[in-house]
Amino acid sequence: MWQTISYVSTANPSLTNSEINELFKFVKLNNDSQNITGILMYSDGNFFQVLEGEKDLIQDLFEKILLDSRHYDVIKIFDRKIPNSSFSTYHSSFKVLGQKYNHKELQHFLKEEESYNPDNYKNISYLANKFMKLL
Ligand SMILES: Cc1cc2nc3c(=O)[nH]c(=O)nc-3n(C[C@H](O)[C@H](O)[C@H](O)COP(=O)(O)O)c2cc1C
Repeated sequence: MWQTISYVSTANPSLTNSEINELFKFVKLNNDSQNITGILMYSDGNFFQVLEGEKDLIQDLFEKILLDSRHYDVIKIFDRKIPNSSFSTYHSSFKVLGQKYNHKELQHFLKEEESYNPDNYKNISYLANKFMKLL
């Protein structure tokens, strides 16, 4: 069974840029090693994340994320099952996007979502672009 969870949160104001970069590196390594896909974005003091993967992994990870003092006020956007058929090994690796990021990365992620996970795409494409100030 597959699961996807998305949320926005407020970064702890004491978090420095280098701590955010460290977090991004850790998240990318850890998620890629566990076949967790999705995206983590940071913009102007807020995080926006989409997690996709095996149900137990995603639920356990989200519990940990909720308790992490590097952010607070976590607001869930969605939390639902993904039909196995739509979740594909064609998905590329987990994406992390900070203040100075490549626009193409986000558009590439959204294009993949559109074909493999259309329900997520409908929910996040507008929000993700707004979040990164592209709309
Ligand atoms: C905004 C935010 C997003 C995070 N996303 C992930 C993630 O996608 N994957 C991950 O392994 N840890 C993520 N973490 C870190 C976890 O909260 C936790 O520190 C990490 O999983 C290590 O936990 P452990 O050493 O207790 O196993 C995130 C933390 C924050 C603040």
